[in-house]
Amino acid sequence: MRTDELLGNFTSVRISEVISESKRCETLYFDLKQSSTINPGQFLMVWVPGIDEVPMSISKWKPPLVGITVLNIGEATEALSSKVPNDWIGVRGPFGTSFDLDCKNALVVGGGVGMAPLRPLIYRLLEEGANVTLLIAAKTKNDLIFHREFSELSGNALRLITTTDDGSAGYKGLASEGVTELVDITEFDKLYTCGPELMMAELHKLAMKADIGFQASLERFMKCGCGICGTCAMDPTGILVCLDGPVFTGKQLEKISDFGKYYRDQVGLKKKF
Ligand SMILES: Cc1cc2nc3c(=O)[nH]c(=O)nc-3n(C[C@H](O)[C@H](O)[C@H](O)COP(=O)(O)OP(=O)(O)OC[C@H]3O[C@@H](n4cnc5c(N)ncnc54)[C@H](O)[C@@H]3O)c2cc1C
Ligand code: FES
Repeated sequence: MRTDELLGNFTSVRISEVISESKRCETLYFDLKQSSTINPGQFLMVWVPGIDEVPMSISKWKPPLVGITVLNIGEATEALSSKVPNDWIGVRGPFGTSFDLDCKNALVVGGGVGMAPLRPLIYRLLEEGANVTLLIAAKTKNDLIFHREFSELSGNALRLITTTDDGSAGYKGLASEGVTELVDITEFDKLYTCGPELMMAELHKLAMKADIGFQASLERFMKCGCGICGTCAMDPTGILVCLDGPVFTGKQLEKISDFGKYYRDQVGLKKKF
């Protein structure tokens, strides 16, 4: 493979629109002339000029339009969130694995900005004729992402459930508690999730106990995004989140001892969640 292909063909793109999703979260839209298909769950490495390059899930793909949904938590995401139409950023990719769409009755659980990669997944599942129960979870009502969009879409094929930690909208409690209390997990073929890793680890236990399929999109610090630097490796196998993930199956996660327990910080030190 040519080096530029391996590194994801760096392209400069001009932002066409910025939509506020919550107080600390924006979706940035831009056109990306992309010859290959982008599948739900894949991500881009996004260069913020003068600051850093960070991984961002693709939250919209309607060729050539691409969207990324950014939660402002630090230097690079703050700079990205403050971009306005006509500003330029750089992107490489798409990278990583995608969600498996083979499902008739799906339970999708998104926590906070974890809704970003799930948004295109939900549209694809509905297009493929699946029934989708979507649980959108957040700390508070003001942190719910894409809630209005999916409440407007909810109907026969899409059922929407809301949970917030403080009870300011929907069921009061954690997403995993919402799944236990509000649905019968055994009715679903597969549980798809993205969000805080402790939430995903609880959901993984529930899905494995119910013996249904499980797919989760993980986050780790990334530098290259394409399997060169090893920053995103997970113990004990050294599996790479950028290349072998970010979407992993329940069976794969059973073999990853770091899942739901440890991550590595910017300098590679192992930390507890
Ligand atoms: C595959 C993938 C997809 C992602 N998709 C999205 C997305 O769609 N939207 C979005 O907003 N974010 C997404 N992220 C996370 C995003 O890349 C980070 O929030 C971003 O890199 C933080 O950069 P920063 O300079 O703003 O913050 P920093 O200043 O680097 O960090 C701020 C704080 O967040 C912590 N932190 C930052 N990144 C991580 C991490 N990966 N794991 C654990 N702690 C971390 C730091 O330790 C620090 O405490 C994704 C990450 C991955 C790996
Ligand atoms: S980020 Fe470099 S190997 Fe994954």
